[in-house]
Amino acid sequence: MAAVVKESSAPTVPKSETYEALMQVAWNFDYEGEVAKLDDLYNRAKENQWNAAELAWDTHIDPSNPIIAPEHSQYAQMPFFQKLSPSQQETFSAHSTAQMLSQFLHGEQGALLTAATVTHGVPDMKAKYYAATQTIDEARHVEAYDRYVNKIAIHYPMVPWLKLLIDTTLRTNNFCKVMIGMNMIIEGLALGAFNNMYKQTEEPLLKSITFNVMRDESRHVSFGHVFLAPTVAAMHADDREDLAQFAFDAVKILVEGQQQPMEAGFLKVLEVSGIDPQDFAAGLKEAAEMGIMRDLPPGQIHSLNDLMMPALVRAGLVTPRSKELFEAAGIPVNADLSVLEAMEDTKSDANVLNAEQAAY
Ligand SMILES: [Fe+2]
Ligand SMILES: [Fe+2]
Repeated sequence: MAAVVKESSAPTVPKSETYEALMQVAWNFDYEGEVAKLDDLYNRAKENQWNAAELAWDTHIDPSNPIIAPEHSQYAQMPFFQKLSPSQQETFSAHSTAQMLSQFLHGEQGALLTAATVTHGVPDMKAKYYAATQTIDEARHVEAYDRYVNKIAIHYPMVPWLKLLIDTTLRTNNFCKVMIGMNMIIEGLALGAFNNMYKQTEEPLLKSITFNVMRDESRHVSFGHVFLAPTVAAMHADDREDLAQFAFDAVKILVEGQQQPMEAGFLKVLEVSGIDPQDFAAGLKEAAEMGIMRDLPPGQIHSLNDLMMPALVRAGLVTPRSKELFEAAGIPVNADLSVLEAMEDTKSDANVLNAEQAAY
C-alpha cells in the first residue's frame, strides 16, 4: 500500500527573495566575435531547441513504484534501510527523491539568473549570443522541473550550500567568475547528477526530461571551456590567480555543504519517514564502514572528481598556489579528462547519450 504523502508535510518554501548585486555590463560595437568555435556552439544551440510542453505530461506516476528503483539507490543498499518497515522505506524513497528533484528545480533557477548575468557582462558579442540561448535553455529547465515537482506534489526548499554557492557566484561583478561558478562548477555538478538520475530512473517522463536537459547542459559545460579557456590563457597572472582563488572558494562551499547532509530539508525527509536522525547517521556510518557508500553504482559519475576538477585544471584555473589549497583541504586535483570529454558537447549529439533516444 502506497504511503499517502501530503504536500503540507514538507517544509515551507519561501516565495521570494531580492537582493542588490554588482553586475558587470558590457556593450560591444564590434559585432564580430573572437572565438570561432562559439559560432558553432550557438548554431547548435538554436538547432536543438525543444519545447518542454511537448513532453508526455499525462504519464501516470505510480506512487507505489519508486522513481529510483532500490537496486539503483545507495540508501536502499544500507542495512539500516533494509530494517525499516515497507511503509517507511516507501516514504523515505519518495521524499529523498523529491528533495533531490527540488534541488534540480532551484538549481535551474540559479542557472537562469547566472546565464542572464553572463549575457550582460561578457564583452564578446558571440558569447552574448550563446549566453542568451543558455538563458532560454535554463528557463525551459525551470519550467520542466517545476511541472514535474508539481506533478509528484512534494516540494522541498533549496539546500543552504547550493543557495550560498549560487549567491556567491551572482554577487561577483566579473563574468569570468560567474562562468566559473556556473558553467564549470554548478553545471559540472548538475551534469553528473542528471547523468546519474538518467541511469537510475525507469520513470519515463523523468527520463525524457533528464535526457533533454542533459543535452542542453552538455553545451553549457562546453561554453565554459570553449570561451573561458582562451580568455584565462590570455590573462595577466594576477587576474588568473584571482579567478583560481574564486574557483577554490566555490568548490570548498560545495564540498563542505555535501559533508553536512543533515540540513533542514533532509531532516524533514527523515521526520516524515519516522526515522530518528541519530539512528540514520549511525546507519550511514555502518554502511560507510562496510564500503557500501564508497563506490558509485556502475555508469554513475562523481561530479567533483570526474567533471569539475578536470574542467578547472584544463582551463588553467588551478594554479600551483591554489593546488596547494585544494590539497590542504583534502580535495584531490584530478586532471583526467576522459569522463568530461565523453560527456561534453564537442559536436551536438556526441555527448554521453545517443541521438535516437531524444524525446523530440
Ligand atoms: Fe539547466
Ligand atoms: Fe545549464
